[in-house]
Amino acid sequence: MKKIMNTDLSIKNVGEEVELYGWVSKKRNLGGLVFIDLRDRSGIIQLVIRPEDNLNDIVNNIRNEYVIRVIGVISERENKNSNIATGEIEVLVNELEILNESLEVPFEISDETTALEDTRLKYRYLDLRRNSLQHKLIVRHKLTMAIRNFLSKENFLEVETPILCKSTPEGARDYLVPSRVNAGKFYALPQSPQIFKQLLMVGGFERYFQIAKCFRDEDLRADRQPEFTQVDIEMSFVNENDVMTMAENMIAAVFKEVKGIDIEVPLMRMPYDEAMDKYGSDKPDLRFEMPIQDITSIFKNTEISFIKSIIDEGGIVNALVVNAASNYSRKELDKLTDFVKTYKASGLAYLKFESELTGSLVKNMSDAEKNDIINILGLKENDLVLIVSGKRNIVKVSLGALRCKLANDLNLIDKSIYKLLWITDFPAFEYSEEEGRYMACHHPFTSPKDEDIKYLEGNLGKCYSKAYDMVINGYEAGGGSIRIHNQEVQNKMFKALGLSDEDVKEKFGFFVDALKYGTPPHGGLAFGLDRLTMLLVGTENIRDVIAFPKTASASCLMSEAPNLVTDNQLKELHIELRK
Ligand code: AMO
Repeated sequence: MKKIMNTDLSIKNVGEEVELYGWVSKKRNLGGLVFIDLRDRSGIIQLVIRPEDNLNDIVNNIRNEYVIRVIGVISERENKNSNIATGEIEVLVNELEILNESLEVPFEISDETTALEDTRLKYRYLDLRRNSLQHKLIVRHKLTMAIRNFLSKENFLEVETPILCKSTPEGARDYLVPSRVNAGKFYALPQSPQIFKQLLMVGGFERYFQIAKCFRDEDLRADRQPEFTQVDIEMSFVNENDVMTMAENMIAAVFKEVKGIDIEVPLMRMPYDEAMDKYGSDKPDLRFEMPIQDITSIFKNTEISFIKSIIDEGGIVNALVVNAASNYSRKELDKLTDFVKTYKASGLAYLKFESELTGSLVKNMSDAEKNDIINILGLKENDLVLIVSGKRNIVKVSLGALRCKLANDLNLIDKSIYKLLWITDFPAFEYSEEEGRYMACHHPFTSPKDEDIKYLEGNLGKCYSKAYDMVINGYEAGGGSIRIHNQEVQNKMFKALGLSDEDVKEKFGFFVDALKYGTPPHGGLAFGLDRLTMLLVGTENIRDVIAFPKTASASCLMSEAPNLVTDNQLKELHIELRK
């Protein structure tokens, strides 16, 4: 039997007898006439039970969320409801059966629910009955199908890779699984299928993809989960341009198919250094402009002592200009100062242009400096100039974050558009102050630019890589690189990262060995499927697009995972807990 979905029915079906199944969303008794909103996956349809139908005994027993079956005739409604898809019709019920009862639910199951997220997560199976959540998961399904279809047509093969893996360093912390059979040894859950997909290229597969679960024990944020899903892709005999072209065509095709949105390809490409310079971020949100402007040269002869000493020490002075001076009182500006301090900026200076220049720096500025500020920044009435000075990286990152905060606070973002771009030419290494050494920006298999291989020995700060990220509306939607296929270069890379021959053998031995057996040139990337869904449904909460998500403390409020296990289980695993 094919179940009829509520919203498949319309005015065209008037007079037909139908059999429907679903949940009671609402019951109203209007002077003997009983109306029930019947909910199924597709939506709501109104049932009418008339006094003469002799169904009173059953109807009286029915409560919200009971599961029922009805047979009835579709009829045109007198009072039409344009808010729901089936608002022109109702079902005059002839037969009514309760299939199952329900306890009183802990929160109202409607899109207007005011229940706290924790309550909804505890009863996730009830929350999933809500239309808005179902809609998001339907979009996720469509997205997944569109991706699979696109890649399959492009001759990619979907191959599964292991979940119980070997722990390898770099990146986030691993989730570990103790081995019962191998006392004292552990598997790691994959942070991504990176090594396996490269081995599939060595194995001659040429074009691979997988909708892959990945696990990372890292601090969670609104766009991160400890287990998440990647659209993981790898290709042989390609360069950066080939991978980016394929990937942007895929994204354009799925945006079109799932949302009917046209994305213009090829996407804009911006080198990492330019993105940091102009937007203070490697994932700039280009739905609004407000670039970071370098005004160091205006202050080259300054008498402002703190700026003078910053410039003398090689620091920079940068500014954001936003046409909102009147929106920011002293108190509001103090809040912005606190905000940039969380990004290690030492402070925030400001200038306002309201017929004349006022603000924290003005009294110590020369006339030439004031004129330059007005002319070079092209100030107009009501402009606010926010200035951070100091070390380059801190200045860029703090103003980059402030740029997004201002745009959000002032509602400058057009939420109806999508701005996609590639960030390219990443540095291969970043210096970790904590570790006192250079670390790989991506992973240790990322190929340096051909002309930069020479910097692997001794000049890591100058070495750029063949890596690329796709950024959508300020989110890193995906990223990848061309890999090292040459064993000599791979060895140099390991050395550059401070890994000894023993370390390499122990941690990546099997992988390095594989590279010796005719590895094709290859590269790929991975998209965050959860993030793509977030972007397509317009939510900033990753939990909205995952059926059974974890909280910020990596637990599941419904099943109460993680949980304690018995002493016996631990004993079998050769594990003793520390007191
Ligand atoms: P990367 O670590 O950049 O690359 O991950 C690829 C994409 O996965 C998404 N993502 C996440 N989504 C939700 N929660 C998380 N905790 C999380 N972490 C990452 C992001 C990101 O762009 N193996 C490489 C890819 C490659 O080089 O081919 C990798 O994993 O959208």
